[in-house]
Amino acid sequence: MKKITVIGAGNVGATAVQRMAELEMGDLVMLDIVEGIPQGKALDLMQSAPLMEYDSHIRGTNDYNDITGSDVVVITAGVPRKPGMDRKDLLKINSNIIKDVCTNITEYAPDAVVIVVTNPLDPMTYLASRVLDMPDNRVFGMGGMLDSTRFATFVAMELGCSVKDISAMVIGSHDNLMLPLPQYTTVSGIPITELMDEDTIQELVDRTINGGAEIVKYFKNGSAFYAPAASITHMVESVIRDSKRIMPATAYLKGEYGYDGVYAGVPAKIGREGVEDIIDLKLSDKQKELLTKSVVNIQSSIELLELE
Ligand code: LMR
Repeated sequence: MKKITVIGAGNVGATAVQRMAELEMGDLVMLDIVEGIPQGKALDLMQSAPLMEYDSHIRGTNDYNDITGSDVVVITAGVPRKPGMDRKDLLKINSNIIKDVCTNITEYAPDAVVIVVTNPLDPMTYLASRVLDMPDNRVFGMGGMLDSTRFATFVAMELGCSVKDISAMVIGSHDNLMLPLPQYTTVSGIPITELMDEDTIQELVDRTINGGAEIVKYFKNGSAFYAPAASITHMVESVIRDSKRIMPATAYLKGEYGYDGVYAGVPAKIGREGVEDIIDLKLSDKQKELLTKSVVNIQSSIELLELE
């Protein structure tokens, strides 16, 4: 059995653990600093196993010793935004959490592949990679996967067709400057640009960009967790099964798309080693311009990080 650790036993972390257990992806450790919560949720999930028929073992803990030997560590720990807030507003508070978590991962699970989910996603992934001191390919973030599943959902809703035939692609930052790519978003191989007019596509793009905020507005005191948990599960599965699936991931760029030394959302091949390849897509001039804005925005957040 593979060992998968999720740091943070809030809605995102616990739901991801549930999904991964139900798919028997490995034995799971759910760690949180709050005493009792990970233990209680883990026990509750274990008591679901006879009915849901999974043999994954789930341990809830406050002790980093328990993450030793993890193949994958997912970081969901952090504070969610409230209505009216931008993900960037969480930079300072969540930086401190990421630093502490990554210091512990370095000590207890230095060989793991690490997936960052905490917002603001792109700078937090960069920060994690600096603290972890691991090869950059072993640290990546989950933003574009979530944005792409949202885009796919809205396309299916618009066309009244099965979500199963849709493959969507969103790149750039996991914030208001993300870049949904209609020409690489397909229904059974047919780009959506062949299936709907520009205005309709723009409406779906805008809804995707606001996808997180739309849910924050409903909840008032928290953010989405079912689709984030599904996105985490999809990514972790590709690592532990070494499936080499191609999906949007917040990856470290070394010249791809013309950027160097920054994390941003791009299509990537995900396998046992983490990000095993990055696909450099052909973009229109307008899209290149928008991607530049998106990456510059990430860089400006990175500059605000206190890296010491
Ligand atoms: C999301 O997109 O759901 C997450 O990034 C949480 C948020 O703040 O919107």
